Amino acid sequence: MDRDCGPLDLVSAERRERIEDRIESLLEEMTLEEKVGQLTQVNADFATGTPVGGLDEREGAASGQLGSLLNAGSLEDARRYQEAAVEESRLGIPLVLGLDVIHGYRTVFPVPLAEAASFDPDLVEAAASVAATEAAAAGVHWTFAPSVDVSRDPRWGRVMEAAGEDPTLGSAMARARVRGFQGEDPTAVDSILACAKHYVGYGASEAGREYNTVDLSETRLREVHLPPFRAAAEAGAATFMSSFNVHERVPATGNERLLDDLLRGDLGYEGMVVSDWNAVGELVEHGSAADLAEAGRQAIEAGLDMDMVSGAYAEHLADLVRAGEVEETAVDRAVERVLAIKGALGLFEDPYQYFDEERADERILAAEHRETAREVARESQVLLENDGTLPLSADDDVALVGELADGPEEMLGAWRAEGDPDDAVTLRETLAERHGDAVTYAPGATPEGEVSDDRLAGAVEAARGADVVVAAVGEPAEWSGEGASRARIDLPGEQRGLLERLVETGTPVVAVVFSGRPLALTWTAEHVPAVVQSWFPGVEAGPALADVLYGADPGGRLPMSVPRTEGQIPVYHSQLTTGRPAPEDLDTSEPPADPGEKYVSRYIDCPNAPLYPFGHGETYGEVTYRSVALDAEAIDRDGELTVTATVENEADRPATEVVQVYVRDRVGSRARPERELKGFEKVRLDAGESRTVELTLTADDLAFWTADEEWTAEPGTFDVLVGRSAEDVVFEGSFELIE
Ligand code: BGC
Repeated sequence: MDRDCGPLDLVSAERRERIEDRIESLLEEMTLEEKVGQLTQVNADFATGTPVGGLDEREGAASGQLGSLLNAGSLEDARRYQEAAVEESRLGIPLVLGLDVIHGYRTVFPVPLAEAASFDPDLVEAAASVAATEAAAAGVHWTFAPSVDVSRDPRWGRVMEAAGEDPTLGSAMARARVRGFQGEDPTAVDSILACAKHYVGYGASEAGREYNTVDLSETRLREVHLPPFRAAAEAGAATFMSSFNVHERVPATGNERLLDDLLRGDLGYEGMVVSDWNAVGELVEHGSAADLAEAGRQAIEAGLDMDMVSGAYAEHLADLVRAGEVEETAVDRAVERVLAIKGALGLFEDPYQYFDEERADERILAAEHRETAREVARESQVLLENDGTLPLSADDDVALVGELADGPEEMLGAWRAEGDPDDAVTLRETLAERHGDAVTYAPGATPEGEVSDDRLAGAVEAARGADVVVAAVGEPAEWSGEGASRARIDLPGEQRGLLERLVETGTPVVAVVFSGRPLALTWTAEHVPAVVQSWFPGVEAGPALADVLYGADPGGRLPMSVPRTEGQIPVYHSQLTTGRPAPEDLDTSEPPADPGEKYVSRYIDCPNAPLYPFGHGETYGEVTYRSVALDAEAIDRDGELTVTATVENEADRPATEVVQVYVRDRVGSRARPERELKGFEKVRLDAGESRTVELTLTADDLAFWTADEEWTAEPGTFDVLVGRSAEDVVFEGSFELIE
């Protein structure tokens, strides 16, 4: 990183100076209690967690005991709290109001994992910018997003909230989301501040169980989990959120090494860090603090600035300082960081600029916002399988089966901010509107997978009378997201049985899979001729899906490998080769025939490879790689290698290709992954069109956490693999990195 990052880097030098002066003079005037107030955040709207002992939000704001509120509620309520802080408290310091705007505010976009599947950072930036415009108009200053947790465990429900298994894709999405939320100017009334979360390692929860233990090596922390945080910091993320998990047995929220040394030191991040919900208090449950006071001391000393709802700071910090157990300078530093975000937002000049009923009426759910949501949804549909059943033709008689085709609530996914099911258009509605009598709906299975005899009979009858079946399957929206881990990630309940009966009718079946995680769809992949991974597509679910089913090219690619069975987890593209790699052509789904086949890294009852690899997704077009070339045989540390790929669409309809560049470092001071994504570019091709894309690699792209504990690239030979997924490689070349 070539500069320190913090919210004041986002404003002009002249503004920065004014804000810094303001902060300095406020700090001189503040009592210790007022300082602690700035570090205290409480929840206003729905109290699902521990409240700060008896502190009423309005009273707290009026008495200067609060710095921030989350979930402030309606615009009117938000204004009331702000008035109390500004007009009644002694120093009139405005509150900063936060909300989880995760994938849209009222115009709900596809869940973030789906957005990542678009492999289109510009589009994802546009989505975040729409979310910011709407949220800011409704009085929100600050979103607790993006989640940039890398995860290789689809059992973990929060894979839905981030960008999947890969640090390069994750970093691109982190940058895009931060830029989209924050825009160019944090004082602008259509931008909000971002919060990169959950720092760090949360996605590595053991066994995919929410809030579980994390045990990460330094190597994995640096190479896999940290890069998207670095990217978010470099893109100017104004705040970070500490995570619930431990690192080296020390909870991240009280972890000086993670917060002070790594984030503030190595990454040079100057911004504010808020805890996750009650995470300071949870230091006690973790067993690393004996009581709330000790928890507060550990957190402030580790460098945690704002306490979200635990009350540790509000109740104990002032006493700890008076008792000499915490230095007041630690408190001052945290206050400076909190005030800096208020300054960056322009709240000292106008604390009410984000409350504007007229702007809210005009901007929220604007037609162009819905249009962007529809585009993102289309671009995030992943065509997993297709034998030509898709796209459908307008004259097809369609049996639409499954309640997920008719569930507006489900389409929004988890974490939907102000999302309203009444705004969501379902597939059933769109098909009825566009194709009328040609579509027969049968409820089939509930999202949880319940299928009664009547429902089964109705679905089968509809299938028999149709040219094609569109079966909406998957899981309920609330089965992913926070607190929604699954030990089994197959289709819930009787959904597979229903699919079997539909396939038996002989009518071709298209499965549309709604889920917030990859599901182990092994049977479906083998028996259903066309499968679309739809995720939760948001308010424009119906129109976007109907577009894709009837011919718009599905633009998504998998941001996570799809396992065949839970037993393979974690399965991801950048695994190490191991000392005994299984030969690529070895069938590991059967017990080994001889010793030569036995003592290699394999299962005896399942292929090693995932069901679908990272990066996979089909197009309706037909893309051929005409040529791929590297422009050099060697580069030095300041050099650049350009990978050039010419792709041509040979079909008479549009196609999408995501050109993916993977690198393998043949020899390193530590074992190196089989391949790692290092670049990608999405190309849309008209019928017959050909395009050339160029992707560059530098020594930075080759860096890793070496045996000398340095983040650097080591000279040697690197293989470059270019292809349409981590496994579908169309070109292999190599080059040298020389000193
Ligand atoms: C979640 C965070 C969220 C916070 C505030 C926590 O439970 O882990 O991601 O931002 O609540 O709602």
